[in-house]
Amino acid sequence: MSGLFITFEGTEGAGKSTHIRLLSERLRKLGRTVRELREPGGTPLGEEIRHLLKHHPAGRGMTPEAELLLMNASRAQLVREVIRPALDAGEVVLCDRFFDSTVAYQGHGRGLDLKLVEPIIAAAVGEMIPHLTLFLHVPLAVSESRRLSRQNEQGAPADRFEESERTFFERVERGFKTIAAAEPKRVRIVDASGKIEAIADAIWVHVEPLLKNRDERN
Ligand code: TMP
Repeated sequence: MSGLFITFEGTEGAGKSTHIRLLSERLRKLGRTVRELREPGGTPLGEEIRHLLKHHPAGRGMTPEAELLLMNASRAQLVREVIRPALDAGEVVLCDRFFDSTVAYQGHGRGLDLKLVEPIIAAAVGEMIPHLTLFLHVPLAVSESRRLSRQNEQGAPADRFEESERTFFERVERGFKTIAAAEPKRVRIVDASGKIEAIADAIWVHVEPLLKNRDERN
């Protein structure tokens, strides 16, 4: 793969979609071809799975194991249908969540054994490991109030995940921190509680050297 694969992680309301948009604009201005994706989703099949996971009434009593498998069914399709071809074509792929979310939400959050979670992720992902993962970190109270105000402003019903208790999000948050500590080269923590421009600049500090590296090699 000659392209660059960057994933964004964090709890709800950390500003991932805003920063994916800003980074994408910056990269396009530099003449890069950018692909913005989200998980679960990003393919017609994945978007149907996303609806099942988040909003469909049939998902109400979903078991953690079924959730794990559906997340990775969506991922297996996305990797093969979109991510791999885009990277082979030299594009920059920006993905809103990827397998670290499964470790954090289904592993740490739902309490599934990581020995069960990891081989399923491996089957979905294959060799497609991100070059860089940006963990946008905001204190839990900030994430919670952003989540609630978004729901009030947009009048959107909370999805199955957003309805979870605070203790669930605490476990997810700890999960992301554990992942970042275990893989400090790939996963960079970005303090996402300040001004948008400052956060975008902090993100750029991690992205720019990777781009240069790629250009020199290609
Ligand atoms: P979002 O795209 O609006 O953040 O919604 C996706 C939800 O799905 C979010 O609550 C996190 C959750 N999720 C998992 O639980 N496991 C995963 O592997 C992924 C990709 C997302």
